[in-house]
Amino acid sequence: MRILLIGNTGQLGWELERTLASLGELNACDFPQIDLADSSGLRQFIRQCQPDVVINAAAYTAVDKAEIEPDAAQAINAAAPGVLAEEARQIKAAFIHFSTDYVFDGQKSSPYLEDDPPNPLNVYGRTKLAGEQAVQRAGAAYLILRTSWVYSLRRQSFVTKVLDWARKQSSLKLVSDQVSSPTWSRMLAEATSQLISSAKSDLYGWFIEHQGLYHLAGSGYCSRYEWGQEILKLDPQPGEQVTQSILPALTAEFPTPARRPLFSALNCDHFYEEFSFKLPDWRLALKLAMESA
Ligand SMILES: NC(=O)c1ccc[n+]([C@@H]2O[C@H](COP(=O)([O-])OP(=O)(O)OC[C@H]3O[C@@H](n4cnc5c(N)ncnc54)[C@H](OP(=O)(O)O)[C@@H]3O)[C@@H](O)[C@H]2O)c1
Repeated sequence: MRILLIGNTGQLGWELERTLASLGELNACDFPQIDLADSSGLRQFIRQCQPDVVINAAAYTAVDKAEIEPDAAQAINAAAPGVLAEEARQIKAAFIHFSTDYVFDGQKSSPYLEDDPPNPLNVYGRTKLAGEQAVQRAGAAYLILRTSWVYSLRRQSFVTKVLDWARKQSSLKLVSDQVSSPTWSRMLAEATSQLISSAKSDLYGWFIEHQGLYHLAGSGYCSRYEWGQEILKLDPQPGEQVTQSILPALTAEFPTPARRPLFSALNCDHFYEEFSFKLPDWRLALKLAMESA
């Protein structure tokens, strides 16, 4: 099986490169070797590689910067996934793409289902939603995995930022009114590889059978304040912390260029019903991630 992974230096892509390596002949690439903003280059690249499965872990993920660079976000998050899906269809390759909880407006009070109406609040969310729709229109054998609050310990993430702040500030203020499901990039990568392994020899047929959009995030949910408390509790070097107190704050106290949904936890039951596994509870995953650091 020939696997093309796009975005192998990102949080998720880095883990995917490691979990996919034993599944087949892996071609892992990132910008500038491949540029999602260059659709004709992208088409040419796929035609040359002739993969059996294309996995797109690349995206324009700078949520605030996207507000001032909407065209770049649109090209990378909205147009490129459609191009990849069209090319995958032409060569009968399966296609896996990732999307975000930020397609929702956060007004719901229970975890979002796949068919809850999206209503993104910012450019990033709007372009990611357009990317989902482009993939769905292209007619490829696809899986879209919508995930949330992805973190890694090797690239800057909320977890590494909290650990860093805890070494510099005596008091930390973290928002308690933004709630979602923290997702360790390694567990998401392992789940993705497990899906490809499940397909066995008829990869394309298996993808057609299971094609669709699924929520896949760490089980359970918490606020950023609760997440931060747990990060400090599980810190592998607690002796380095100088933080004496960690205080809840409101999103309104920290204005950012992009608005964020307040409640965007994802209900992952549909994924579980279809594939019979789920990601572990976010606290357990965080503990395992911290132990791996
Ligand atoms: N991070 C989150 O909290 C979160 C939450 C929900 C969903 N997601 C989704 O999950 C997926 C993986 O996210 P992540 O956190 O792993 O992202 P990430 O760490 O920001 O990695 C994104 C990757 O895309 C690459 N990239 C950016 N522009 C590119 C271009 N024009 N051509 C080719 N590659 C390009 C980046 O390269 P450079 O580093 O060189 O820019 C980087 O390697 C994305 O689809 C994202 O939307 C993420």
